[in-house]
Amino acid sequence: MVNIQTVATQPFEGQKPGTSGLRKRVKIFQQKNYTENFIQSILEAIPEADGGAKGATLVIGGDGRYYSDEVLQVIVKCSVAQGVSKLIVGRNGIVSTPAASNIIRKRKATGGILLTASHNPGGPDNDFGIKYNCSNGGPAPESVTNKIYEVSKTIKELKLADVPKVDFSKIGTQQVGDMTIEIIDGVADYVDLMKEIFDFDAIKSFFAKNKDFKMLFDGMNGVTGPYGYRLFVEEFGLPESSVMRCTPQPDFGGGHPDPNLTYAHDLVEAVNSQGIDFGAASDGDGDRNMIIGKNAFVTPSDSVAIIAHYAKDAIPYFKKHGVNGLARSMPTSQAVDLVAKKLGLEHFEVPTGWKFFGNLMDAGRCSICGEESFGTGSDHIREKDGLWAVLAWLSILAHVNKDKTMGVQDILQEHYKIYGRNFFSRYDYEEVDGQRADDMVKRLSHQIEKNELAGKKIGDFTIDKADDFEYLDPIDGSVSKHQGIRIIFTDGSRIIIRLSGTGSQGATVRLYVEKYSNDAAEYPKDAQVGLKPLIDVALELSELEKFTGRKEPTVIT
Ligand code: G1P
Ligand code: ZN
Repeated sequence: MVNIQTVATQPFEGQKPGTSGLRKRVKIFQQKNYTENFIQSILEAIPEADGGAKGATLVIGGDGRYYSDEVLQVIVKCSVAQGVSKLIVGRNGIVSTPAASNIIRKRKATGGILLTASHNPGGPDNDFGIKYNCSNGGPAPESVTNKIYEVSKTIKELKLADVPKVDFSKIGTQQVGDMTIEIIDGVADYVDLMKEIFDFDAIKSFFAKNKDFKMLFDGMNGVTGPYGYRLFVEEFGLPESSVMRCTPQPDFGGGHPDPNLTYAHDLVEAVNSQGIDFGAASDGDGDRNMIIGKNAFVTPSDSVAIIAHYAKDAIPYFKKHGVNGLARSMPTSQAVDLVAKKLGLEHFEVPTGWKFFGNLMDAGRCSICGEESFGTGSDHIREKDGLWAVLAWLSILAHVNKDKTMGVQDILQEHYKIYGRNFFSRYDYEEVDGQRADDMVKRLSHQIEKNELAGKKIGDFTIDKADDFEYLDPIDGSVSKHQGIRIIFTDGSRIIIRLSGTGSQGATVRLYVEKYSNDAAEYPKDAQVGLKPLIDVALELSELEKFTGRKEPTVIT
């Protein structure tokens, strides 16, 4: 018999899961009972099981960041006490976010707890995160995260099993009280899934035929290192020099594990200096991706459009299941809409955050989707999937190179020739004063309410309409309000302003600009140059400098 201790506790303020779970500084999670409170709140809020987590099977994974080991032990103590029947845990707690989504689905688990703050830096002075995913393998919807938050606000008592420390380093099954813990290789199931989706032989023969085609994958010291190594080196037989930073580290080697031109600078530099044809990176927990090539950067908005364009011809999974519909988050450029229109497919515009795609996928109405924030994925799981996107690009390269020689830049230019180009950029202003950021957004939404923006002319641009984006989920009828200020101009250009839901400190303002062109002379242009006039309009309309005191963004993508 395991002894269950009852410990008095008090609610902590702000245990409200954001866009992707609860993300805070490690020091916050280290406060006495803070993590215990939140884990118990999750377990009590689990929707499927009556009366909380009793009898549940939960998948536990994460990116192995600093403090994961301690939290794994907390999960064991809380789970035993709540009557969870089984935990399926990756060795050392390591399972990428997409791989965890797959395991939840494949093993028909009740849900899963992911220990990650995604692309946020790790280490004692940085971030930790805890996120709950439901039985479909996707991030918990607002109904569940709200419930977790409600429980966290009233929690008074913790129930903790008095059990010895569990060793998560060895694969196998063990028993802790009435609960079973199965420790698995977090990579194997994922690689099997990728083999079902993609034609590995086609990719292998592409590399075999094009011996001088070089690729470089950057694991950014995050969770995808072992996955990338298994795929590119062991499966495709590429040299070890085809991967870099592929050992997961608790602090990501001191880096910021976010695959963009700023933080994956080492990869960009290596690709440029070594004449590499195809470069790719993934973030801390493996759901984001960046694709670059020789003199080429593929914006995530273009990436999802291009993958959708080639899907049925280049990827067996879509040959078999078809492409049922496409979707993007609201700030993502409209490039993928153009593909949907051409292919005669349904397409959706959803709020920021992957959870909104899940309902569409579960209803069979969306096969491929993406976000401008380096998120691309499909209905094979219910999370975005960094390595899936890399394999999709390798499949496209293998496909187009059957009849001609095409690199990443050629694929981009070919796409623009067919569809035109949606120039797109995002400016991030990190850690600005929360109140001032709120005030800035409120001022704009006030102007929208009073209908002061439509018809206004600024520079060469005239505002056609402006709104505070609201989404009516076509599947469950739920409405999500205040999802970002959207200003649309008469030429189709757009400015979007919203506050981040994933930051852990202060507020982050995100400013997105998009401008469409079907003038072939413009296609090779640098996006920043083409977008400058629109950015100036955005800064003027929002009075961003006045509100935030910032002259320059922290990151431009
Ligand atoms: C950011 C991205 C969003 C993504 C989320 C989780 O959220 O903008 O597209 O789904 O991270 O990776 P935000 O901080 O903007 O709320
Ligand atoms: Zn991530």
